[in-house]
Amino acid sequence: MRYKLLFATLFILLLSRTQPLVQDTNLYQEPYRPQFHYSPPCKWVNDPNGLVYYDGEYHLFFQYHPFGTTWGPMHWGHAVSTDLLHWQTLPVALYPDDIGTIFSGSIVIDRDNTAGFGENTMVAVYSYNTQSQGVAYSIDNGRTWTKYDGNPIIDALLPDFRDPKVFWHQDTRQWIMAISAGREIQFFNSPDLLNWEYMSSFHTPGTAGTWEVPDLFPMEIEGETKWVLIVSINGGTPAGGSATMYFIGDFDGESFVPDVPGEILWLDYGADNYAGTTFSNEPNGRHIHIGWMNNWAYAEHVPTSTWRGAMTIPRELSLVDTPDGLRLSQTPIPALSEVRESLGSWDELAVSGVVELENINGRELEIIAEFDPGSVMRSGISVHRNEVSQTQIIYSPLTSQVLISRSDRVDGELIRGFIPIFGAPVELVDGRLTLRILVDESSVEVFINDGTTALTALSFGDPSAGGVALFAEGGEATFIHMEVNALRSIWSDEAVVASQDVTFCD
Ligand code: FRU
Repeated sequence: MRYKLLFATLFILLLSRTQPLVQDTNLYQEPYRPQFHYSPPCKWVNDPNGLVYYDGEYHLFFQYHPFGTTWGPMHWGHAVSTDLLHWQTLPVALYPDDIGTIFSGSIVIDRDNTAGFGENTMVAVYSYNTQSQGVAYSIDNGRTWTKYDGNPIIDALLPDFRDPKVFWHQDTRQWIMAISAGREIQFFNSPDLLNWEYMSSFHTPGTAGTWEVPDLFPMEIEGETKWVLIVSINGGTPAGGSATMYFIGDFDGESFVPDVPGEILWLDYGADNYAGTTFSNEPNGRHIHIGWMNNWAYAEHVPTSTWRGAMTIPRELSLVDTPDGLRLSQTPIPALSEVRESLGSWDELAVSGVVELENINGRELEIIAEFDPGSVMRSGISVHRNEVSQTQIIYSPLTSQVLISRSDRVDGELIRGFIPIFGAPVELVDGRLTLRILVDESSVEVFINDGTTALTALSFGDPSAGGVALFAEGGEATFIHMEVNALRSIWSDEAVVASQDVTFCD
């Protein structure tokens, strides 16, 4: 009997060493906790890092502060998914070292062993907080990492010199690095991921903030290849605070030349989509983008509890020809259909004043609407709605904009730096607007006119508000077609929650 007890105790001790136990049975059920977006079990997260597909898994690494819910000494957290919707948090991948803490960067699969760490090795190229650049590699599907002993591979050449995005350029058979450098992007090349040479830089007048987290990739449109350069910028953005711009042009292996010099396009007009990049080695050649769903203007003050920060829904990017020129369009990943349940659909619904959708109450919703605003001055859809707060998606013909207006907290404490309202320029197509809206516990993502315009917003009103209403002020608007779906939680399975690494959770 005594031995049995001893064995049982030893077994439990062993278990608790290999797999930290989830102590909080409410994990992923806290107020404001995203239910179909990735957020770590606890602590602070910012930029997605090292997005890469390998051997059946999508890897999401991320800027992580394991000891606090505000920004601090950066590590790379790690999660994996097979469908880009359901995630498993793995142990922290990269820890600070003698050179510094680990800032943002990217990962490539070194198929031909150019770096000498082995064929098909995962190689991470990242910044240190000192603004020098480092390399680490993994030969076990990203589970454990070894830092290159020749780090840093590039010294800190400038005060703001960081966030390398690396890819293989087939035409010139070399590695290319796009890296932010103050208010420009610089391009380097390398035969082996370790020795890098400066080639060129790109900048555009009229921006007012530090350029961060670039991404550069080719896209096909009507048989032609165009190159898209994505750059996050902290300051001088449409909504205020931090946001992501993009440029479309050509890249010949040496320098990037935009099609329309001086033109700045915005990936997202909302306040909360920053520092995103696309997956490397995506098996179907798709360009799947994930951003940090937050804004440096108030990121450290959002009212969540044991964790702070989340990712946007992964979005497939494509290039489309619009009357204004080539634009990126964004489509949320198809895996959402795995968690979708129809709640109802309506046709030719005439609205004047406010119409509550009586039988709908939910904070995880997908709303698809095609609507004709008529000659109404303000019309649209309210979500996260009750008598004390709501988040509104508003069409305004006066400014030709779709706006998001969101309640601040309802407990009397305002979120420091919060931006209550912002909008995107839109054009009606045949007098109509199409909207696809993803609503989660503390966010609203709006894709307009087939995703050619996007607005992403955190939403922190009353955490129990789940009403939906349609409105048209001073006239009649027609919802030509509308569907509302519930989206089930990706955390509804206890075994899934228990499989998350919670090493740093108290
Ligand atoms: C962008 C950023 C990056 C940097 C990282 C630090 O949000 O400022 O430029 O590498 O965050 O956490």
